[in-house]
Amino acid sequence: MKLTISSVLLSVLLASSAVSAAPLQARNQKSKSKMMMGGTQAASPAAKAAVGAMYFITNEGTGNFVVAAAIGSDGKVTLQQATSSEGMGSHGAPGDGPDALFTQGAVKASAAGNIVATVNAGSNTLSVFNIDPTNPTNLEMIGKPVGSGGEFPVSLAINKAGNMVCTVNGGFVNGVACYTVDKTKGLLPIANTVRSLKLNQTTPATGPAGSVSHVIFSEDNTQLIASVKGIPPTPGILAVWDIAADGSLSQDFKAVTPATGGLLPFSMTIIPGKNAILATDAGLGVDVFDFSAGAAAGVAAGKSSTLPIDGQGATCWSSFSPKTGNFYVTDIGTATVTEINVDDNLKPSIVTQYPQGNGTATIDNDIATVGANDFMYVLAANASQVQILSLNAPGKAAALQTLDIAGPAKAAGLTVNPDNLQGMTTFIKKA
Ligand SMILES: *[C@@H]1O[C@H](CO)[C@@H](O)[C@H](O)[C@H]1NC(C)=O
Ligand SMILES: *[C@@H]1O[C@H](CO)[C@@H](O)[C@H](O)[C@H]1NC(C)=O
Ligand SMILES: *[C@@H]1O[C@H](CO)[C@@H](O)[C@H](O)[C@H]1NC(C)=O
Repeated sequence: MKLTISSVLLSVLLASSAVSAAPLQARNQKSKSKMMMGGTQAASPAAKAAVGAMYFITNEGTGNFVVAAAIGSDGKVTLQQATSSEGMGSHGAPGDGPDALFTQGAVKASAAGNIVATVNAGSNTLSVFNIDPTNPTNLEMIGKPVGSGGEFPVSLAINKAGNMVCTVNGGFVNGVACYTVDKTKGLLPIANTVRSLKLNQTTPATGPAGSVSHVIFSEDNTQLIASVKGIPPTPGILAVWDIAADGSLSQDFKAVTPATGGLLPFSMTIIPGKNAILATDAGLGVDVFDFSAGAAAGVAAGKSSTLPIDGQGATCWSSFSPKTGNFYVTDIGTATVTEINVDDNLKPSIVTQYPQGNGTATIDNDIATVGANDFMYVLAANASQVQILSLNAPGKAAALQTLDIAGPAKAAGLTVNPDNLQGMTTFIKKA
């Protein structure tokens, strides 16, 4: 049965290999560091009125761009501009299909730090940008791209203060590395943070089974946690490093396996105030990891559990809504958003599901609080769209907008490909 799950997952992720869209390239990408998608060179009315911005990456092998859209006070978005990361994107093996990097967190914004950072998986580098406070879709690179401390960097975490960035590399040389953010020089490596995951991997990474998924800080910022998918029947792990006062990481990680049934831990979302994590599991739905019982034993003990989502294809991405108190996970195979409640006792249950259109391949997502409401931004990679949902109340999310990426990208001469688009992160200006 477990092998069947694995082959279903692989077939879902390989299904689109025959339909990779023709590149829309119209100009030499390297000659342009910024491409306007809002139609004019001057900041558009939407950019001027923006309360924040939404970012994803093109992750193209010919040059990676961070694409920015203005978020309005109604939660709706308007594409504005694409900024070169001065690095290359990549695609994991084998072949094609959306979710090129097998990850969540390829691009990450921090309101506290006023920065956006991206991985460049094809050039083994990271880039960091300052966010223009008057127009959050306008990004200025700080310094130059820096080496990622390994190969095929795929995910980023930023601490609460917004001044420390960590990445996880998923390639032949795999593991984590951390940096301080210097507002003039960019990312500066922190000593004793390059730590191996000791995976037998390739560059580009081979997956999805056995590949690196995501990296996050623990809620109290004292630990760095990376997720790794299993190779069924062997379950994957969360790898946990302690962070010392000087920012250095413990030499070795503690490997925590999911509760029985867990297989392919993918994204990790903090369960607020519980010392626990909700991880999507591409093999069955979601895993709850309870760390309050102590992770030292190497197994997720205490109230750890798994929650199967019936009929799921591959549930891989997640976010939390402070407004509804619920988690929202996306499935690339069924193109469905599933809302999940985790009760006080850490017991997860499905609240309701929101189909987003068969074949659209809903991948990365993020939730932003705008005024009194929360909005969810979902990259529907196979349709080259972003689906926006208004999370009005528990169980009451509603479709708000569908944003087309392909048309504006073509008009701007920006190469985008459904198989390479990755990441989703939001930034909301301080009130
Ligand atoms: C690494 O993986 C490759 C491909 O699956 C395999 O042939 C090789 O034996 C593995 N090496 C180790 C040290 O496990
Ligand atoms: C989507 O696919 C499912 C499963 O194949 C099918 O039951 C459903 O009717 C489809 N929905 C639409 C709108 O095509
Ligand atoms: C992507 O779209 C193509 C064409 O509509 C479809 O055949 C394929 O199954 C889709 N892939 C995914 C992962 O949804």
